[in-house]
Amino acid sequence: MSDSTILSPTAHSHAFVQSQREAAFNDPATYWATQAKELLAWRSQWHTTKDTSFDPKNVNIRWFDGGTLNVAENCIDRHLATRGDKPAIIWEPDSPHDPKRILTYSDLHREVSRAANMLLSLGVKPGDRVTIYMPMIPEAAIAMLACARIGAPHSVVFGGFSAQALRSRIEDCESSVIITADGGMRGGKVIDLKNNVDTALEGLSDTKVLVFRHTGHRVSWVEERDIWWQELAETVAAECEAKPFDAEHPLFILYTSGSTGKPKGLLHTSGGYLLYATHTFQHVFDYQEEDVYWCTADVGWITGHSYIVYGPLAAGATTLMFEGVPTYPDAGRFWEIVEKYRVSLFYTAPTAIRMLQREGDDFVTRYDRSSLRILGSVGEPINPEAWQWYHTVVGNKTCHLVDTWWQTETGGHMITPLPGVDETPPGSATQPYFGIRPVLHNTDGQALEAAASGALCIADSWPGQARTIWGDHARFVETYFSAFPGTYFSGDAANRDEQGNYWIEGRMDDVINMAGHRLGTAEIEAAINAHSDIAESAVVGIPDDIKGQAIYAFVIMKPNKHLDDEIRTAINGLLRREVGPIASLKYIQEAPGLPKTRSGKIMRRILRKIAAGEVTSKNHYDKLGDISTLVNPEQVDALVEGRLQ
Ligand code: WT7
Repeated sequence: MSDSTILSPTAHSHAFVQSQREAAFNDPATYWATQAKELLAWRSQWHTTKDTSFDPKNVNIRWFDGGTLNVAENCIDRHLATRGDKPAIIWEPDSPHDPKRILTYSDLHREVSRAANMLLSLGVKPGDRVTIYMPMIPEAAIAMLACARIGAPHSVVFGGFSAQALRSRIEDCESSVIITADGGMRGGKVIDLKNNVDTALEGLSDTKVLVFRHTGHRVSWVEERDIWWQELAETVAAECEAKPFDAEHPLFILYTSGSTGKPKGLLHTSGGYLLYATHTFQHVFDYQEEDVYWCTADVGWITGHSYIVYGPLAAGATTLMFEGVPTYPDAGRFWEIVEKYRVSLFYTAPTAIRMLQREGDDFVTRYDRSSLRILGSVGEPINPEAWQWYHTVVGNKTCHLVDTWWQTETGGHMITPLPGVDETPPGSATQPYFGIRPVLHNTDGQALEAAASGALCIADSWPGQARTIWGDHARFVETYFSAFPGTYFSGDAANRDEQGNYWIEGRMDDVINMAGHRLGTAEIEAAINAHSDIAESAVVGIPDDIKGQAIYAFVIMKPNKHLDDEIRTAINGLLRREVGPIASLKYIQEAPGLPKTRSGKIMRRILRKIAAGEVTSKNHYDKLGDISTLVNPEQVDALVEGRLQ
C-alpha cells in the first residue's frame, strides 16, 4: 500500500491474516469452532460444528448444534466483571442542545433485565415473536436484548416504515406484543410512532403495546392494550436470570424486500449469528478496547442489528447511537459528534457521504477528527469520487477505508478489506472474509475462473447466514438456492479483477436500492395500483447522484383517465401510506402500454434503459438489445417520446 506510511497502524499483520484465511478456507468447521470457543461464552458444548447443505432438494443450515448460550449474557453479563463501568451505549439526541445519555455495561444489565421482566409479565414465552418499532434511542437496543435474554425472537421494524408496512410484518410473524415509543425525533420533527402502531393494530385483537415515553407529546391510548414502559418498569425486578438457549434458537426475524411478493422475514439464529457479527466487528474495524465506535445506521436494518447492537456489545465495545440526521442542525452534525466523543471507528452509507460532500468541506474541517482510525462504508456501491472525499477530507488521509459488501441474508460482512492488510482500490469491496467462498456464475450457470464478471454466489455456508424465511422455507430455497444449484445466490452481480478484488455491480433482480434502502418493485407497484385511476404500473431504478438510485414509474391509466399532478401527488401519498416516507417516486410517466413478452412478463430491462435516457430516438434502439420477442414493440416509441427528465 503506497500510502501506508501515513495510515494509522492496525493490529493485524499480513502473515497472520494469510494464515487465518488459509485455515478458514481449508477447514471452515475447525476454524469456526476455534473462534466460537474464543469469542463467545457457551453454557454447553456443541456436538456438531457445521451441518449444512445448499442442495436445493435439502437446504439445511445448522451451526454449533447441541451447544447452548444466552445471547444477552454474551453481550452484557460476561463483561460486568471487567467492564462494568465502561460505557456500553452512548446516546446522542437529535438536537445538540438536548442532554446525551451514557449507559455503562452495569446500567445496560439492569435495564435489559428489567425490560426482560416486563416482557415476561406480559406473558411472553421463549419462541414468541415481539415486534419492535422504535426510534434510535437506547431502549431500542434494550428491547432487542431483553427479547434475546428470554429467548423471544424480535422483529424490528424500521421507524420510517408506514402503519401498513408495520401491520403486514406484525401479521406475518404473528406477534402479539409490540414495543414502541410515543414518538421519535428526526431533524427537529416528531415522528408519531404510537399513532402508526394504533393504525397498524386496528381490528387486531389480543395485542399488547409497551410504550416508552420519549418525546412526551400527547398520544391516544387504548386501555387494557397499551402500557407505559416507565410505569411497568417500576413494578418489576432489576434481575432476570439469563437461561441458556440452543445455538439454533431463533434470535430475530428481519424483513427485507425481494423482487416479487411481500417482504421476506429472514430468520437469524443465536450462536452462529452472534459469532459472525462479533468476529467481523472485531476484525473489519480492527477493534481495540479503547475505541469509540459509531455506526450511523438505524437499528431497523441488519446493519443496526449486527453492527450497532450485537457485534459491538458482544465484543465489549462502546457503541454510539444517534437519533438524528446528518444535516440537522447543519451538515457538520456527524463531525461534531465525532469530535465530542472522540469517535475512532465510523461506519456510514455512501448516500450520506455524497450528501455531505455536496455541502462542502468546511462543515467537516471545522471539527477535530484526529480520533478517527477506520472509516467504513455499507449499503450500496461507493463511487470513487465519494470514496476519495471520505478518505481525504473526512479521514484526512490517515484512516483506513473499508467498503463492506453484505446483506440482510448474510448476517455480517462477506467481502471487505481488512484494514492495514488489503489494498483498497476505491470502489472495490476487495476480498472475501475469512471462510467465505465467492463464485461468479455466467447465465448458463457455469462457474467462471480468474478475472470475470457474473452472478455473485457463495459456495459454502458461514455461521452468520440466515436459516430460512419465516413461515416459508420453500421461498427461501427458491429465492437463494435454485438459480445456481449448490450455491447461495446473492442477487448481485460482481466483477473479479486480476488481483482477485471484487467490484459489486448491483442487483440483478428487480430490487431497487435507493439511499441504501432496499425496495421491491412489486411492493411499490402494488401501492401505485391502489390508485383507482391506474390500471397497471411498472417501476425501475434510474441512476441518481445522491441516492444511488431513484424510482421511475410508468403507469397505464384506466380508460378516459389522464395523469396529472394531482394524481402524481396522490400516488406518492399512497406509497407513503403503504410503504413509508423512504419510498417516493422521482418521475411518473403515463404510458399507453408496457413492453411485454408473449408470456406477459414486463421487460424491465427495456424500461430501465428508456428511463435512464439511454435510448432517446429510433437511432438508439440497438441499445435495447433484442426486442423481437416483444408482443407490442410499437409501445417503445411512445415510451421513449414521453420520457420525463
Ligand atoms: C444489498 C443488501 C449490508 C447491510 C445494508 C444493506 C447492496 C450492500 C454494498 C457494498 C455494493 C452493496 C447489495 C446487496 N450492498 N453493501 N458495500 N457495495 N453494494 O443490506 O438491505 O440487505 O441490502 O445492498 O446490492 O445485495 P440489505
